[in-house]
Amino acid sequence: MLILGLESSCDETAASVVADGSTIRSNVISSQVLLHAEYGGVVPEVASRQHLATVVKVVRQALAEAGASAQELDGIAATCGPGLVGPLLVGLELGKSMAYAIGKPVVGVNHLAGHLAAVYLEHAKNPPAPPFPHVALLVSGGHTTLFRVEGRSRTALLGSTRDDAAGEAFDKVAKLLGLGYPGGIVVDGLAERGDAKAIAFPRALPGREDLDFSFSGLKTSVATRIAVSGRPEEDALADFCASFQAAVVDVLVRKARRALIREGLHHLVVCGGVAANRGLRHALATAAQEDGFKLYVPAPVLCTDNAAMIALAGTWAIARGERGGLDLSVDPGLPLS
Ligand code: KG4
Ligand code: ZN
Repeated sequence: MLILGLESSCDETAASVVADGSTIRSNVISSQVLLHAEYGGVVPEVASRQHLATVVKVVRQALAEAGASAQELDGIAATCGPGLVGPLLVGLELGKSMAYAIGKPVVGVNHLAGHLAAVYLEHAKNPPAPPFPHVALLVSGGHTTLFRVEGRSRTALLGSTRDDAAGEAFDKVAKLLGLGYPGGIVVDGLAERGDAKAIAFPRALPGREDLDFSFSGLKTSVATRIAVSGRPEEDALADFCASFQAAVVDVLVRKARRALIREGLHHLVVCGGVAANRGLRHALATAAQEDGFKLYVPAPVLCTDNAAMIALAGTWAIARGERGGLDLSVDPGLPLS
């Protein structure tokens, strides 16, 4: 089964062709980061226009790199939420139009279901894939959530953030430090050569027994420190980043461990943009060894937004008989059922 995936929920225009739910034939990502950097965040109207300007080119490239024509596709999967309404519409409407033109099925894919599926592309090449049920920690710019994953389309919410998402905290702190937008990856790089014990930032563990997160107190602590002492530079900047990152990572790892114990499970999937963070990957690998659970994290390119994960989740949906009509629409607040 040859499926074209389309992803346009935020600031990446992406298209990918995935064969048989296992082989990535192409994975094209056109990032709008530079366009939004001068505003310090994603401007929805600017994002919509840029998706419109690039999406056809990105799809053509994905088909060309896959060596496939549109007529050879067996179906099309496009992200239908959650995300920004204008950007979502661009990808979904193109997907519907193409599916209508080639007479093949189209499905709308939940962006979060895509992130949860990404790891199965990795482990198709490199088995074993994570078994069901498992615990998944989804850490991105919009979400910090723990799920119990029962099957390909069956999840139960275990806990989520009460305020900022982890990626949002990285981006806001990077902005306060003058490191540009989006800053998660820059903080990650600086943290590599800093001392994580230099500053004792607070570890918020709201409801010690539950599985929720909170990052707003940490962000305030960072902002207050910068307001009082000014922006750190050189070695002090690296120490600052390492200390902030350690505070985020510490909480994520503690809650993920607690979720595994509470659910009596031994397999942990970590996904979403922040799963690309080297400090988090390292700390989770250590925890896995200490606690004896198995850790599954996709390659960084499959952690951040991409259309291969959408193509895979779409392949599963089409295989179980789901079909979208021409009335298929987007939902910016779409929950994961
Ligand atoms: O999954 P994603 O690409 O988009 C959303 O669905 O939100 O996640 C983007 C988020 C941004 O906040 C970005 O700063 C963060 O992931 N991110 C990172 C790293 N790479 C991306 N955060 C920390 N360390 C990284 N290496
Ligand atoms: Zn995402």
